[in-house]
Amino acid sequence: MILLGKRALLGAAAGLALSAPALAQGTYPTRPISMIIPFAAGGPTDTVGRLIAQVMGNDLGQTVVVENVGGAGGTLGAQRVAQARPDGYTILLHHIGMSTIPTLYRRLAYDAVNGFETIGLVTEVPMTLVARRNFPANNLAEMVQVIRRDRDRINLANAGVGAASHLCGLLFQKALDTAVTTVPYRGTGPAMNDLVAGTVDVMCDQTTNTVEQIRAGTIRGFAVTTPSRIAALPDMPTAAEAGLPNFEVSVWHGLYAPRNTPAPVVERLNRALVAALRDENIARRFGDLGTEPVAVARATPQAHREFWQADIAKWRPLIQAAGQFAD
Ligand code: MLT
Repeated sequence: MILLGKRALLGAAAGLALSAPALAQGTYPTRPISMIIPFAAGGPTDTVGRLIAQVMGNDLGQTVVVENVGGAGGTLGAQRVAQARPDGYTILLHHIGMSTIPTLYRRLAYDAVNGFETIGLVTEVPMTLVARRNFPANNLAEMVQVIRRDRDRINLANAGVGAASHLCGLLFQKALDTAVTTVPYRGTGPAMNDLVAGTVDVMCDQTTNTVEQIRAGTIRGFAVTTPSRIAALPDMPTAAEAGLPNFEVSVWHGLYAPRNTPAPVVERLNRALVAALRDENIARRFGDLGTEPVAVARATPQAHREFWQADIAKWRPLIQAAGQFAD
């Protein structure tokens, strides 16, 4: 007779628990899963999504198909998932915008707070203050002087109200006490094309989109928005070092499913996410791009729900005090 220890018995029970609803659904997943990225292809959210989708698909035994649904600062993609069948075949990769959108947008066609099940946290990405290659400044202090002097001619790119680049751009303009013209795109992938082309002047964007362009010299990097320098850009000063204290912004990214997606399905998706967070290639690629997978303990569905709800509450009074809303 084989004596099963308590842990093995619990594991077997959990497996049975998972298999019951999953079997009822034909052993989830039985077909490809759609991962909605609420911004255009080629941007930082898309980059993170495509990297984890590959590993998650391997773990799930089904392809995780990335689909870009951009527009309206990431709300159109979020809406698509909030209104999808809660069957585990449509998931959302989004970021800090999930915390600012509930306050910034007052007339949404979906419930921005209660319309989702949390699958887990993925990564936190630093941001960089960048400009077109021929921007007439040698450092952040000079960049600030030029922006203040030429404020009526400077164009700052972002991915629409509610995007991380929008939030960082707001904080940057507040720190400078200088308002400039903002140019919204369906993602900072397309925005980066115009920055490289020199048709837009400055942007605050995530390292996952800027590190390779900075290294290639196609854009100029002036500061990173983290408390200390990052290994991917060792020569890049922090904003504090460069004369802009208390300017720290990092963009967390999380995975979501429609509200009422069955718990065993959410748990199976979380297991696939954890496989991605533990994957060596993901760790290496994220490191190349200035970020890293979050610790697995932070990546549970419950941990992310608590983190997300607290972040919504943190941003609400700040946004309401600024009085700038998307609608
Ligand atoms: C953002 O600004 O929120 C993101 O960079 C948008 C994107 O991923 O394109």
